[in-house]
Amino acid sequence: GPPFQFLQVQKAGAQGTVGLIRLQRPQALNALCEGLMEELRRALDAFEADARVGAIVITGSDKAFAAGADIKEMQGKSFQQCYSGGFLAGWDRVATVRKPTIAAVNGYALGGGCELAMMCDIIYAGETAQFGQPEILLGTIPGAGGTQRLTRAVGKSLAMEMVLTGERISA
Ligand code: COA
Repeated sequence: GPPFQFLQVQKAGAQGTVGLIRLQRPQALNALCEGLMEELRRALDAFEADARVGAIVITGSDKAFAAGADIKEMQGKSFQQCYSGGFLAGWDRVATVRKPTIAAVNGYALGGGCELAMMCDIIYAGETAQFGQPEILLGTIPGAGGTQRLTRAVGKSLAMEMVLTGERISA
């Protein structure tokens, strides 16, 4: 397909069997705009279909894994537009990949970025990693599975605290 604008995609590891996807939209701290998510689905489809690839790593930069869904794209949408337009529906592809997926997280993993990490099978986090669901501070809620996956990952009490306050936690 066409070259990637928001991702760096390569095969890594001694045998070239690791599909490595680096989110690369530094000017927006890897905010997950529609174009980026469309490219991510395309990269995942390609690695899923490549018999030489055994596992997939999704990572970002030192500063940000991903700072969330793209607020600028989101802010003008009404409930009706989100609901009837299937807003975020395509994000599930990350969770349905059959090969093992690993999120390698440094820096901010906020909102949709935290949800993206949790869609992977394993999260491998560095010391600077910060996880949070700050949607409440924008008057919305974690809409890409965060309310369910965070509860399973950290338990109901901490999940509720994070979702209701927007406070961040480390690895
Ligand atoms: N969507 C769109 N753009 C975003 C973004 C997002 N989720 N997060 C950051 N950006 C953009 C900023 O608008 C800024 O771009 P600009 O200079 O063109 O305005 C750029 O990324 C750098 O962000 P900035 O806020 O200046 O960096 P910072 O180091 O001061 O703060 C954060 C970093 C992560 C604390 C802060 O960017 C933030 O709170 N982001 C939103 C997180 C969020 O609410 N995510 C959930 C969305 S539902």
